[in-house]
Amino acid sequence: METVVSGIRSTGNLHLGNYFGAMLNFIRMQNEFNCFFFIADYHSLTTHPKPADLRRNVRQVLAEYLACGLDPAKSTLYVQSDVPEVAELYLLLNMNAYLGELERATTFKEKARKQPDNINAGLLTYPVLMAADILLHKASKVPVGKDQEQHLEMTRQFGNRFNRMYEVNYFPEPVAFNFGGALVKVPGLDGAGKMGKSEGEGNAVFLYDSDDVIRKKVMRAVSDSGPAAPDSPRSEAVENLFALMALVSTDETIRFFDQAYKDCSIRYGDMKKQLAEDMIRFITPIRERIEDNLRDESLLEKAMAIGREKARTSADKTVAEVREIIGMRY
Ligand code: TRP
Repeated sequence: METVVSGIRSTGNLHLGNYFGAMLNFIRMQNEFNCFFFIADYHSLTTHPKPADLRRNVRQVLAEYLACGLDPAKSTLYVQSDVPEVAELYLLLNMNAYLGELERATTFKEKARKQPDNINAGLLTYPVLMAADILLHKASKVPVGKDQEQHLEMTRQFGNRFNRMYEVNYFPEPVAFNFGGALVKVPGLDGAGKMGKSEGEGNAVFLYDSDDVIRKKVMRAVSDSGPAAPDSPRSEAVENLFALMALVSTDETIRFFDQAYKDCSIRYGDMKKQLAEDMIRFITPIRERIEDNLRDESLLEKAMAIGREKARTSADKTVAEVREIIGMRY
């Protein structure tokens, strides 16, 4: 069975865009592949989080992923630093990662611009650690988006370089993978583009948002001045509201507002009120599971322990083989 690896940023809380995007993909993948999903806490140290924040973030992310349906029995869900073997593979790969190529990574250039007072070596070698994450389990598929394509290309480069250098055919070439066409585009509430955390406070609806917060955000969503004439085309902002409805509302509700738009009787206030209630209905059980998970110390610990065990078995094997290939047998 093919192996899938993906790292989860430990700082991000899930919003509806993540849910209908990456999360549903992960849930489908865990049934079909040998999956390793990990919370990338080592990576997050490049920005120097406070210890209490790091702890809270990792637990929050774990609670959210479990609440969405990632199943520790089906996939290996672990915390990156629980498997320190990755740090050894990272060290070994660093010996054949060159300054020039690391400096050319767009993510590095962007981070260096954003945090000029903290251009640390971890930031520079971020792609090497990511390569180690992937090669550690000899993955062939990596479910990431366009923004990670360059990192994935570097992973292939590092893996192939290792293979050439030691004249082995050890690391497979991982490729980006998502179920074709399964990625739904989830727009934000600001009238343009997709839902994203960095697009401003009110743009994204998070799985942990309270009912009131959801109502406020949705009622403030951008719309337009209404259809000018029967059957006039929809603006991007209104199209986005309909796209969100398509994710959380019943067919009957969607048909109702669709018709109301066509015959110009639509009132966006009513539409948003309905959308907010449907989002709340969708999110409430997930939010309750997140809260339950966060309260249940032993559940989180058990999940982490199961993941750690499975991930270390795989990691141990790879690191032992890599040491052997390199000649570390004295
Ligand atoms: N760099 C990825 C991101 O920013 C997170 C990540 C770290 C990752 N290691 C990985 C993704 C390994 C896939 C595989 O989203």
